[in-house]
Amino acid sequence: MLPLLTIGEVARRSGVAASALRFYEERGLIASERAGSGHRRYPRPVLRQIAFIVFAQRIGLTLDEIGAELAKLPLERAPNRRDWSRLARTWAGRIDQRIAELERLKRGLTECIGCGCLSIERCKLANPGDRAARLGPGPRYWVGDCPPG
Ligand code: FES
Repeated sequence: MLPLLTIGEVARRSGVAASALRFYEERGLIASERAGSGHRRYPRPVLRQIAFIVFAQRIGLTLDEIGAELAKLPLERAPNRRDWSRLARTWAGRIDQRIAELERLKRGLTECIGCGCLSIERCKLANPGDRAARLGPGPRYWVGDCPPG
């Protein structure tokens, strides 16, 4: 039986602030036990769950999506290599989307830096009359939508 970790130890080892760990716990993404003093104590496998959460956030999963993914892991035992790799396989498409998005951003930045034309036909920064708002929230042309017409 491995010793339980304090929230400070988990924060140091994971690189995630204690406040974020408490937030993850409030969202049901990780769980702790309470020591006699009432302080949180975490089983060591929580470090892998946190690494998963951090990585999933970096590839653009929302906390709800991360929670749904973590719910696929077995509750009756610590997740093993096969459990994690099964989970990771479902991410391949998401990672490809993220790579494509970053490449679009890179192309857009390369085109616009030092240009300044704001050409309606080709510039992803130009948005006269906020036409992009019709396509949804956020920077629509940067995420891959094309201007109408
Ligand atoms: S500013 Fe010229 S293409 Fe964006």
